[in-house]
Amino acid sequence: MSPGDLDQALCGLSFPGDSNVLVGIGTADDAGVYKVSADLALIQTVDFFTPIVDDPFDFGRIAAANALSDVYAMGGAPKTAMNLVAFPMKKLGKEVLREILAGGIEKLEEAETVLIGGHSIEDNELKYGLSVTGFVHPDKVLINRGLRPGDRLILTKPLGAGIINTAMKGGLASLETISKITELMAELNKIASETLSSFPVSACTDVTGFGLLGHLAEMVFQTDIGVVIESRAVPVLPEAMEFASMGFVPAGAHRNRMFREAMVDVSAISPVVRDVLFDPQTSGGLLIGCPEQFALALTDRLIAEGVEYAAIIGAADDNNNRKGKITIV
Ligand code: CO
Ligand code: CO
Repeated sequence: MSPGDLDQALCGLSFPGDSNVLVGIGTADDAGVYKVSADLALIQTVDFFTPIVDDPFDFGRIAAANALSDVYAMGGAPKTAMNLVAFPMKKLGKEVLREILAGGIEKLEEAETVLIGGHSIEDNELKYGLSVTGFVHPDKVLINRGLRPGDRLILTKPLGAGIINTAMKGGLASLETISKITELMAELNKIASETLSSFPVSACTDVTGFGLLGHLAEMVFQTDIGVVIESRAVPVLPEAMEFASMGFVPAGAHRNRMFREAMVDVSAISPVVRDVLFDPQTSGGLLIGCPEQFALALTDRLIAEGVEYAAIIGAADDNNNRKGKITIV
């Protein structure tokens, strides 16, 4: 589905809600949040997709890391999960399904999250993912619309997954590159989320299908905040730059760009860098807004905790010419 299609389909519908809904369907956030009591809210999210790597175990790990990520992006801790499986049993057989589920379970264990059920159907096309429920204190929920003037933006994983996957399909990516991108996609955003919990973070989301600029656009769309991104500061896998300059850019990157074109000034950068910044990510990193005076300390702490690619990539302001806009320099 193209970005915007879902918005159009939902346009005009009203959704049942109540006063305990802290984050609902209206703000394009990572997950829904529902307040249970004064000190507990549930974070609920679901994510599933078709395979992005050949190895079934790795696919399971990546799908689980991706599904868990939205809980981390809301500042919560995942607690329970359920499998979602659409599987061509005759074509692929039980062993493949077993490997996928085992990969998912490995990541759930790492996330200290229990699998409590699921649902599977026979389907011509394999799809796997999870619904995940997490806990968060109602006052500690991190939303995507919280940026304030002066905040710095921090990204915790390098870009390039979509481009490298496109090159993989074309048979161009080396085994080393494939294994590097696989490990990055399978990496949980757990440590990043736990680390930022001791800082006064103003906004958070994770970078997935809309690409860095698409998710950033959701953070500033129709707000009084604008953002300047320093393209050279954005962590990007060198292989992704190489493949993008050879033209291995997924269709999703172009759709992301067309959808948000009006909000983003890319006139100062090359088309290759622009494509990388719109590249759809699978299980990408967290994108964090943090007051300037804490941004360096948070970035250093992230790196010290093992989030090695963490970098400050830009800043938010309330410049009149930039409200609701993104400028790349
Ligand atoms: Co998300
Ligand atoms: Co999601």
